[in-house]
Amino acid sequence: MGGSLLLPILIAHILYITTTDPRADAAIGVNWGTQAAHPLPSQSVIKMLRANKITKVKLFDSDSSVLRALANTGIEVMVAVPNEVLSTLTNAAQANLWVQNNVLRYIPSGTNIRYVAVGNEPFLRAYNGTFIAATYPVLRNIQEALNNNKMGDRVKATVPLNADILQASSVPSETVFRPDISSNIMQIVSYLAENGSPFVINIYPFLSLYGDKNFPVNYAFFSGNGVSPVKDGAYTYTNVFDASYDSLVVALRKAGYDNMTCIVGEIGWPSDGDVNANVNYAQKFNQGFVDHLVSKKGTPLHPNTDIDAYLFSLIDEDMKTIAPGNFERHWGILAYDGRRKYLLKLSGPDGDDLVEVSGVNYMKAQWCILNPNVADRSKLADSIGYACANGDCTELGYGCSCNKYLDESGNASYAFNSYYQRQNQEKGACSFNGLGQIVTKNPSVSNCKFPLQLAFPGTPSSSTSGTPWLRAPLTLLLALLLFLNIIHQVFL
Ligand SMILES: *[C@@H]1O[C@H](CO)[C@@H](O)[C@H](O)[C@H]1NC(C)=O
Ligand SMILES: *[C@@H]1O[C@H](CO)[C@@H](O)[C@H](O)[C@H]1NC(C)=O
Ligand SMILES: *[C@@H]1O[C@H](CO)[C@@H](O)[C@H](O)[C@H]1NC(C)=O
Repeated sequence: MGGSLLLPILIAHILYITTTDPRADAAIGVNWGTQAAHPLPSQSVIKMLRANKITKVKLFDSDSSVLRALANTGIEVMVAVPNEVLSTLTNAAQANLWVQNNVLRYIPSGTNIRYVAVGNEPFLRAYNGTFIAATYPVLRNIQEALNNNKMGDRVKATVPLNADILQASSVPSETVFRPDISSNIMQIVSYLAENGSPFVINIYPFLSLYGDKNFPVNYAFFSGNGVSPVKDGAYTYTNVFDASYDSLVVALRKAGYDNMTCIVGEIGWPSDGDVNANVNYAQKFNQGFVDHLVSKKGTPLHPNTDIDAYLFSLIDEDMKTIAPGNFERHWGILAYDGRRKYLLKLSGPDGDDLVEVSGVNYMKAQWCILNPNVADRSKLADSIGYACANGDCTELGYGCSCNKYLDESGNASYAFNSYYQRQNQEKGACSFNGLGQIVTKNPSVSNCKFPLQLAFPGTPSSSTSGTPWLRAPLTLLLALLLFLNIIHQVFL
């Protein structure tokens, strides 16, 4: 009878289901910056993006190895014109050349470039106006180059702006654009609207807290717990994200743009480098935000909407400037080596945990520490200063991951090791006037990790995602078994 083939069919079916990726798409895109001393190989990062079903990535440049590796992944890409390049692209011919070399070149081979970011927060107050004049002409030149090459419908140029383009106000309904740049913003908004391009804004509740010690911390998160709601006419706000987003909506409405599509270009929380930058808060904020998106609650002014957003950021970058604060090197949902710092479900509360980068190669298991047997420590302060200036000591300060675990010698060891690793463990990089010593016992204490840098240059793991090739024969097997079963039932 037909029953003899049912069991193998059932087994094949179960195997098929278990090898079919059950993950839901991530509800959020990611910013992928690469200012790291020893960055992870692009191929390994992209493998991880795919394992997490991340569908959108925002870059800060247009690195060719990254764009090539993103080909045929389906992942939507935002490439960027760095601020430093803006002034040269005010020339239309140069802008056209940039578009040829950084966008059009990659599209035919399958890289899904959808946006060009013109500058990165070019109107930020801290830049003293340096990039203001060039921004609009470059936006126009880039979009026109795309349009002239018949790519204007597919690729949109835009300008990611920091929420500091908004004049501070006590409630969203009173918000306007900052007077010193409002005419520049109007020019940009009008051009974006004409082209059907989105407005991109970066929103940082962490910086609200960092900049104002009286900021009510619970208002940064999304639980509504311990928050006195802010009333704004008919609307009530229980978190600062909604208030910031609606402030932008209001400013755009007042300017006559009711229906502008707004993308959140950067949002996130750092995990180290400040008393409020820790793993607990980062987890709470990032998961809270993802769940907020998944709920599709939207904001009081735009209820029941999908908000398009990109987490800042994917991976820690230990070479970022710490001018804004020591937290700058710790925004990643993954550490420098692609390891998870905390559990995060990118497709919402019922989704799967974030998958780490696999196949990571580290340098040899050896560290540089302060030699405890050297009595003359007259050069110690200078040595620590040098190591920190050329390495990374952002984990040592008050409230940071190493602060309560290290004494003064521990601090010195931490600094020495950071420099030594960054210098590819070269022997001379652990001398420090005779104060350094190379050890093979890991000096990490509890949550205070003495990192080993990644093997450099990164050697990408040669294995690609195992699932697709495994899945194809199983599909064939299943089809064959079904076919045999039909034959069996019909003819026997
Ligand atoms: C902006 O101006 C301030 C004060 O004059 C100065 O300290 C800072 O370095 C300037 N920043 C830039 C990016 O030019
Ligand atoms: C916004 O969109 C709505 C619905 O599509 C439309 O009725 C309204 O006129 C639009 N407003 C503007 C300012 O374009
Ligand atoms: C270690 O270094 C940090 C950052 O400079 C400092 O805040 C801390 O007080 C130092 N710890 C000791 C025990 O000196």
